[in-house]
Amino acid sequence: MVGASSLNRPREIERASALLSGAGRIVVLTGAGISAESGVPTFRGPGGMWKSLRPEDLATPEAFRRDPALVLEWYAWRRALVRECSPNPAHHALARLALEVPGRTTLVTQNVDGLHHRAARAEAGTADPAPAFPHEVHGAIHRTRCSRCGWVDEDPQDVVAPDLPRCPRCAALMRPDVVWFGEMLDPDVLGASFDAAEAADVCLVVGTSALVYPAASVPEVTLAAGGIVIEVNLEPTPLTRRAEVSLLGEAGQLLPALTAYAPAPRDGAG
Ligand code: OAD
Repeated sequence: MVGASSLNRPREIERASALLSGAGRIVVLTGAGISAESGVPTFRGPGGMWKSLRPEDLATPEAFRRDPALVLEWYAWRRALVRECSPNPAHHALARLALEVPGRTTLVTQNVDGLHHRAARAEAGTADPAPAFPHEVHGAIHRTRCSRCGWVDEDPQDVVAPDLPRCPRCAALMRPDVVWFGEMLDPDVLGASFDAAEAADVCLVVGTSALVYPAASVPEVTLAAGGIVIEVNLEPTPLTRRAEVSLLGEAGQLLPALTAYAPAPRDGAG
């Protein structure tokens, strides 16, 4: 385990925390690293899925056309894995931050694992705590959608070869409701994320290699609009040199410490 305190001076954690608590608006961008402590594998780095698997075989429209059974089996495996995982203290800390002053904090995630939603429901004690639900810019693994007409199944059964799942409306193959390499992101979801980034005084970036665009633009939008970036990661990323504070360590340790200082509600944060 990498301890937060062994890598960061406590003053840095306090400074980041003070910047967060003083911010009128916050946008948070999360990546696979926030779910690593829950047991969900990351994509890059040690143990990352793209170390042993090729995205072009599993996460592109061409791969699905070539071998839908292979792609669907890989997603069924990931769905089963995620079902066994639980949100960790980092997901819970962000849910609490988002619920504390509704409208002040916007969560944006590249993750498709649904763990932010589960933490939000647990923290709020309700089924639909909308302010703590993230914009899921790369979609959600637990949904499928029709590869032709776009009909979405919110609660699909895992069906694998030879009986591949078909759309009840148009009979085309159902596919995971995620964004694959070479595909456009949902413009509404991306637009709302960029709007939040532009309005934010602080962009908190957690557990992402900051390499995959356009999601990696979220902190850049905040910086361009005059805000600052606080980064939490095990290691430096291309964003680190532009961050006001860079905290090296595990999100599950650092996030609760960062958000423990009660945020001061500000005028205009509604
Ligand atoms: P990556 O796997 O590229 O990066 C994970 C980051 O999390 C790395 O920078 C790690 O150092 C960091 N990390 C790992 N464990 C951590 C921990 N416990 N605490 C803090 N940080 C930790 O994942 P993403 O940046 O999310 O896209 O990848 C972006 C996109 O690339 C994904 O959404 C996916 C992938 O291909 C698509 O599938 C379209």
